[in-house]
Amino acid sequence: NEAQVRDLVESKLATIPDFPEPGVVFRDLTPVFADGPAFHALSEALTAPFAGRFDHLAGLEARGFLLAGAASALCGAGVLPIRKAGKLPRAVLREEYDLEYGTAAFEVHEGELPPGSRVLIIDDVLATGGTVEAAAALIERAGWLVAGVSVAIELPALGGRARLRDRFEVSSLLRY
Ligand code: PRP
Ligand code: ADE
Repeated sequence: NEAQVRDLVESKLATIPDFPEPGVVFRDLTPVFADGPAFHALSEALTAPFAGRFDHLAGLEARGFLLAGAASALCGAGVLPIRKAGKLPRAVLREEYDLEYGTAAFEVHEGELPPGSRVLIIDDVLATGGTVEAAAALIERAGWLVAGVSVAIELPALGGRARLRDRFEVSSLLRY
């Protein structure tokens, strides 16, 4: 059940103060990815709250790719890769954004999915919400629908949920 999945993932999670810069408490899921049962359980838990309400999973580069890929294999929905700028070879839409410790830009291929596709956004950590907001803007500009936002870890003090909740359903397994 969900409490068991939460305990398993939490038991593997690493917390690193002052990475990648002073003042940031970094939540590192690599030990979860390295543990087969924990990774499997987490990947399953990310899509469960949205069952029957999405057609595709959007994976946000880079850590969101691992989770969306694993979840795809478990639930059968395909993956829309939302990539850091400059990586996709065909015509793209682009959104610049700020995150807890920097700035970046995302791109998505125009026309990658059928119009009106319901896309569930998957990522590891929701902090300020800048990353998810950029991904959602790309999905909507491309003519698809945001089915929701599902993350492993939420940092509520950084305001991501407050920024997104009026527009999107947000689900997180763990909150710190
Ligand atoms: C991290 C994390 C989220 C984002 C959350 O990604 O994986 O995508 O920050 O921050 P926000 O809510 O403040 O926007 P990062 O850009 O460090 O990239 P990576 O996945 O390539 O390591
Ligand atoms: N992305 C943004 N803030 C983060 C944090 N504190 N830990 C891990 N990933 C993050």
